[in-house]
Amino acid sequence: MAKSAVAIQNYIHLNDDDCESRIAEAKRVLGSELVILGHHYQREEVFRFADYSGDSLKLSRQAAASKAKYIVFCGVHFMAEVADILSRPEQMAILPDLAAGCSMADMADLVKVERAWRELGEILDMEQVTPVTYINSAANLKAFCGRHGGIVCTSSNAQAVLKWAFARREKVLFFPDQHLGRNTAYGMGIPLEEMVVWNFNRPNGGLMPDQIRSARIILWQGHCSVHQMFQPEHIDRFLERYPDARIISHPENSFEVCQKSHYVGSTEYIIKTIQESASNTRWLVGTELNLVNRLHERFKGEGKSIHFMSPMVCMCSTMFRTDPQHLAWVLENLVSGQIVNQIKVPEKEVELARLALDRMLEVSI
Ligand code: 13P
Ligand code: SF4
Repeated sequence: MAKSAVAIQNYIHLNDDDCESRIAEAKRVLGSELVILGHHYQREEVFRFADYSGDSLKLSRQAAASKAKYIVFCGVHFMAEVADILSRPEQMAILPDLAAGCSMADMADLVKVERAWRELGEILDMEQVTPVTYINSAANLKAFCGRHGGIVCTSSNAQAVLKWAFARREKVLFFPDQHLGRNTAYGMGIPLEEMVVWNFNRPNGGLMPDQIRSARIILWQGHCSVHQMFQPEHIDRFLERYPDARIISHPENSFEVCQKSHYVGSTEYIIKTIQESASNTRWLVGTELNLVNRLHERFKGEGKSIHFMSPMVCMCSTMFRTDPQHLAWVLENLVSGQIVNQIKVPEKEVELARLALDRMLEVSI
């Protein structure tokens, strides 16, 4: 009789130490058939098993380059979808906990984006509008961009992607993160008056035709629930106490927070900037807590003092869903030949989503 997969219920009560040794053993047995990719926001007990860690761009490249049969993605759902799209058909992308989504990605869906495209089409020449989706979005939205001459971006390459888009067409529809769109466009010299916010719950985005006509970038009204916790007052209070401190933020933070920050960039940029800074510097970091804690541990030996921007504990709760129990579960099932939690993007979306991702990879340095 064919073996069936072992259920997660057999793992949820295991303690972390047991999981640790079982994960290590499963990794040893699977050898080069397996690669584990870990986003910087993963908790330490999982992150330590990543063969490659990185931000969304770096991990997309890693997924595209991997030869392993199984790509286990310790991250969130859209990342595993990207791994499936960019890998070869015989490879499998696996997400240890299927509930690890992204609340920002959920703020845009195909029905709403198609409606926006139709409504905009009654006012604008859509041959002059490029759809740009943040990688934090569903595969069918990446396919939408592929179909309409658009492109994907990450927080590492948003400026290069917008340059690409504006070199081709007059306007951009940017979704789902208004903050990444606004912060990036502003940094390129586009004034705030030439940006509008599209409220996806209202007809015509809640905008008048003239506002739409005079905008260069139409920003979807989405945001990250984690990064919205960081406030300009947190920076002011910290600088009153430590006037020499350096402030560094992720571009998913609000415009006001990014304007008050000395440095703004992706998770990979944040790590590199702090790593290359002089010893004995003090940093206030506006991004997810697990990464900031890791930076604190890593650099305290160099006398660098790393502080979290919010007085509240704000973690990405969906990134946090991937625990050692789920990782042990998917790996031991692989050892016994069972695939659980495979992420498979529908065939009809793969080609167009890949087109939009390939355009992005081409313009990224
Ligand atoms: P990066 O990893 O691209 O910096 O993005 C952060 C993030 O929100 C991941 O979802
Ligand atoms: Fe999504 Fe924000 Fe979590 Fe990133 S940090 S995965 S944008 S909810």
